[in-house]
Amino acid sequence: MKRDFDNQIVVITGAARGIGFAIAEAFAVSKATVIIIDVVPDAVEKAVAKLQSVGAKVFGYVGNVTDSAGIEALFAQIMAEHGGIHCLINNAGVTRDNLLIRMKEEEWQLVMDINLKGSFICTQKAFKHMMKARKGSIINIASVIGLMGNAGQANYAASKGGLIAFTKSCAKEFASRNVRVNAVAPGFIETEMTANLSAEIRAEYAKVIPLQKMGSPVDVANLCMFLASDASDYITGQTIAVDGGLTMQ
Ligand SMILES: NC(=O)c1ccc[n+]([C@@H]2O[C@H](COP(=O)([O-])OP(=O)(O)OC[C@H]3O[C@@H](n4cnc5c(N)ncnc54)[C@H](O)[C@@H]3O)[C@@H](O)[C@H]2O)c1
Repeated sequence: MKRDFDNQIVVITGAARGIGFAIAEAFAVSKATVIIIDVVPDAVEKAVAKLQSVGAKVFGYVGNVTDSAGIEALFAQIMAEHGGIHCLINNAGVTRDNLLIRMKEEEWQLVMDINLKGSFICTQKAFKHMMKARKGSIINIASVIGLMGNAGQANYAASKGGLIAFTKSCAKEFASRNVRVNAVAPGFIETEMTANLSAEIRAEYAKVIPLQKMGSPVDVANLCMFLASDASDYITGQTIAVDGGLTMQ
């Protein structure tokens, strides 16, 4: 999909690799000003270098989504240097899988802090700027696990289920300011996060996915482009799955 995002400033967290990087690449190709925020400095540098070959306006910032003061300062810097934040994509996320009986409090807390609190922090800081502009699109990268649950992922499922409820509440709160908030729920997508799955597990997953294959980060990026664009002007508070039909209602 190619759209024209000229003069649109799109901020993507956790975009140094994986799904976030694919989203950044799609927007860069579509002429957006792309702002990558990630916690790993080397990875930010490499991602920006790669993307500058496809888009002229790609900028990287090192930031941790759980650091409220740091994100506030970073968003103020982005406003000063680029003049706006039209779209925020809360993509930074981690897993710390364990059966509940063995799950350590640190494993629970880290996943909640990055996946849920990090999205709250970035949303709050971005909305301050979007409400003044009376326009904006916020996209939360949730997961089908937040809809269906999964054994060994109670922390991750709770964080993504929480993110879906957070999306609906923000959509209601921000609608009068013309700021839309939607969630994207990817299914099984080929990235570093899923690279260590065995061939057997992949085959098992493929059996339950109606389209019988894993998705690609580009599939997620395509939906983000639609939700960021005016083509989705009347859509807010929704959770849209990109999952090959896995969770169809
Ligand atoms: N891969 C999948 O199959 C899949 C499925 C459903 C949902 N998701 C979600 O998509 C998002 C991206 O997943 P991915 O597979 O690309 O993961 P990934 O691990 O490949 O990339 C995550 C990125 O987030 C960054 N990050 C981690 N903690 C951060 C923090 N505190 N502040 C800023 N950046 C931070 C990492 O450095 C990394 O670059 C996540 O929210 C994940 O939960 C992934």
